[in-house]
Amino acid sequence: MDMFIIRGGRALAGEVTVSGAKNAALPIMAASLAVDGPCRLRNVPDLVDVRTLSTLLRELGMSVTRDKNGDLVLSTSNDSPFVAEYEQVRRMRASICVLGPLLGRRKRACVSLPGGCNIGHRPIDLHLKGLAALGADIRVERGYVVAEAERLKGADVYLGGPFGSTVTGTCNVMSAAVFAEGTTTIEAAACEPEVVDLGHFLNSMGANISGLGTPFLRIAGVERLTGTEHTVIPDRIEAATLMMAAAITGGDITLDSVRADHMTAVIEKLREIGVTIDVDGQRMRVRCLQELSPTDCIALPYPGIPTDVQAQLTALLSTVPGISIVTDKVFPDRFMHVSELLRMGAQIRREGNNSIVSSSSQLSGASVMASDLRASAALILAALAADGESVVRRIYHLDRGYERLEDKLRQLGADVRRVNDEPSNVPASLLPQEESGETPLQPPHFTRTSQVTRASTEDSPG
Ligand code: UD1
Repeated sequence: MDMFIIRGGRALAGEVTVSGAKNAALPIMAASLAVDGPCRLRNVPDLVDVRTLSTLLRELGMSVTRDKNGDLVLSTSNDSPFVAEYEQVRRMRASICVLGPLLGRRKRACVSLPGGCNIGHRPIDLHLKGLAALGADIRVERGYVVAEAERLKGADVYLGGPFGSTVTGTCNVMSAAVFAEGTTTIEAAACEPEVVDLGHFLNSMGANISGLGTPFLRIAGVERLTGTEHTVIPDRIEAATLMMAAAITGGDITLDSVRADHMTAVIEKLREIGVTIDVDGQRMRVRCLQELSPTDCIALPYPGIPTDVQAQLTALLSTVPGISIVTDKVFPDRFMHVSELLRMGAQIRREGNNSIVSSSSQLSGASVMASDLRASAALILAALAADGESVVRRIYHLDRGYERLEDKLRQLGADVRRVNDEPSNVPASLLPQEESGETPLQPPHFTRTSQVTRASTEDSPG
C-alpha cells in the first residue's frame, strides 16, 4: 500500500491542468453499453475507478482500450452478458451505473448491491423506484438487483429523496428511459454538470433528452443509439481541491482547463473568505493575498457547494482564525476526516451534520489515515499547511479519484513523496520512540502564530 510523505509549509505556485471529471466519465463509460458501434471518449482521467469500471465493462462483453492519444475507445463485442459481479461492484459504488444501460439495451440486468460505504448510508431505492416506474420487474435476490423488462414504457418519474436528488440514480433512469416506448419525464432530476454531460453524450448518439441541467427532464424514447465521440468535462472537484491547496498554503496558482461556470458556489465561497480568484476563459488564477476569514457553508445538491468538497473546505477553514461551521446536507455522516484532522491539531467539534471549526491553530505534521476519497484530499491539504512532516496513509482512496495528484502538487512546488507503506519509509520524527531509536520528539506544541507564509504580493507568492 502506498502513502504520501508531505513536508508542509510551502506556498504553492505555478500552473497545472485539471483532468477530466471522474463522475462524468464513469456513467458515460457505463452508458456506452447501450450503443451499437464504437464510442471514443476524450479526457477520461487515468484513475483506479476508471480501470475498475473498464474491467467490469469487459466482463459485460465490451472491448475497452486506451489509444496512443489517451482516448478511451469502447465497443460491444458480445451483448449477451448482463451480470455485474460483486467482485467489481464492491470496489466501486459507481458500478451501479451499468444497471440502467443494461436494462434499457439488453432488457435485463443483474447487478450486485454495492454494500456499505465510509461516507454513510447510501441506498439505491430511488434508482429502483425510477426503473420500476418505467415498467421494469425489479427484485433483490442474494445481494443482487435483478431487473427485467421486455420493453420499457415511458412514464412520469419523481426522483426526489430525503437528501435531495440522486446523481447516479438520475443517470440510471435517464440511460434506461432513452429506450422506453413513448416519453418519460423525470422530476427532481439531479442537475449536476456530470449528469448533463451524460445527457449530451446520449443525445450525440441519437437519444432525445431535453431539460438537461434542470430538475425536469423529458426523454422521448428511441429504438437505438449509434457510436459517437465525446470529450468529458473538466473535474470541478479536482479543480476545487487545487484551489483550496493554493488558499491553505497562501499560494498563487493558475489552473488550466476549468469550467468556472460549474463551480460558482465554490468560487463565491472562496472569494467571500478572502481568496482572490480571476477567471479567464478556461483558466483560473487563485491567489491568497490576505488573511482569510471564517464562514458558514452548507454542502447541497448542485448548484450548491458539493458534498465532495466538504472535507477539503473543513481542512482549509481549520487554518482560518475565527469560528466556521460546515454542514453537509447531502451525506450527513460524511465526517470521517474530522478525527484525523484533530490529530493534526485542528480544532473541530462535530454536532450532527455540522462541523464547528474553531479558531486558527498551527496544524502540525502527523501520521494520519485516509478513510475515503475526499477525506484523503482534505488530509493532504492539511499536511501541505502543517508544520513539519506528515504521513498520509491509505492513499489508495485518493488514487480512485485524483489523477496524479502528487505530480500536480509537486509541479506547484509542494514537497510530496509517494512511498510504500513500510515502517522504514516513515520519517523517524513520526515513529513511536521505540521504533525510531532516535531522540524522542518534543511534545507536540500548538502555536497561534501565522501558519504558512501567505503570498504578500502578486508577483511573490512567498
Ligand atoms: C454521486 C457522486 C458522489 C457525490 C454524490 C453527491 C458519482 C459516481 N458519485 O454519488 O461523488 O458525493 O453524487 O453529489 O457521481 N439517496 C437515497 N436514495 C437513493 C440514492 C441516493 O436516499 O436511491 C441519497 C443518498 O444517501 C445521499 C443523497 O441521496 O444522501 C445523494 O446521493 P446520490 O446523489 O445518489 O449520490 P451518488 O449518485 O451515489
